[in-house]
Amino acid sequence: MTSTPSTLRETVTGTTSVPSLRAAGLRLAYGPDRVVVQDLDLELPHGAVTAVIGANGSGKSTVLRALARLLRPSSGHVLLDGHDVHHLRTREVAKRLGLLPQSPVSPEGLTVRDLVRRGRTPHTSLLRQWSEKDEAALSAALEATDLVDLADEAVDALSGGQRQRAWLALVIAQGTPWLLLDEPTTFLDIAHQIDVLQLVQRLNREDGRSVVMVLHDLNQACRYADHLVALRAGAVVASGPPAEVVTEDLVATVFDLRSRIVPDPVTGTPLVVPIGRAV
Ligand SMILES: Nc1ncnc2c1ncn2[C@@H]1O[C@H](COP(=O)(O)OP(=O)(O)OP(=O)(O)O)[C@@H](O)[C@H]1O
Ligand SMILES: [Mg+2]
Repeated sequence: MTSTPSTLRETVTGTTSVPSLRAAGLRLAYGPDRVVVQDLDLELPHGAVTAVIGANGSGKSTVLRALARLLRPSSGHVLLDGHDVHHLRTREVAKRLGLLPQSPVSPEGLTVRDLVRRGRTPHTSLLRQWSEKDEAALSAALEATDLVDLADEAVDALSGGQRQRAWLALVIAQGTPWLLLDEPTTFLDIAHQIDVLQLVQRLNREDGRSVVMVLHDLNQACRYADHLVALRAGAVVASGPPAEVVTEDLVATVFDLRSRIVPDPVTGTPLVVPIGRAV
């Protein structure tokens, strides 16, 4: 008897294994003179939504790219499910971890469907060709990101926000237990921002995916993340549940900004009201 997959993740992965992701003693640099991260230890809680916050240039994208094996550390390790990612095959990493980069570039003329279809590459090979399961994963990802009607449009003819959702769909179709999303809401109008954040929550709560996302909106980070990591100059200055770590002092430390923190009237989570630059 075959069982019917009940969640989006089972549809796309057929697996329920949950890897762990952590960094130990990470040093990240662009060339010998541009050290961005020095001796970083980071444990990302699995089964949770983590938001990474920090000022422009604080190293958020650099850390995410290192976690996704796109940037080789000059020392230290990224451990995915206990294995150094640099000792795993590319396909192995791509089955476990999907990255939405901050500024992805798509080949000219590629349609949304073809872009999202690429998310299934790690699951297909000469011996294991495109299957019904891949088709189901593709359809589920297009539906989840509200792109069914745009599936045959060229990606480079879409608006910035639509394009962002197409890339998000690719990562969803990849069906990985870990999702790393670098500013998934940046180009979106406020309604689509909430759509994406609710989708992230659903992928986490219903499909059991662990999510690490970079967000600039602190109030959204507090609402939608279980765990927060605050970076300043490539170092972790605070980590933990938003209600515990988001304080006026932290906002001043991370952003050089004076603020008041009040309870969000809708969710009760911290709501940061900016006052002005710290003197
Ligand atoms: N390819 C690169 N070559 C050289 N330096 C780089 C490169 N990419 C990033 N940097 C530098 O590394 C530092 C961290 O950049 P990173 O992109 O990780 O910051 P970020 O926190 O993601 O910022 P933002 O909020 O603007 O996206 C910056 O000082 C940046 O200039
Ligand atoms: Mg960035």
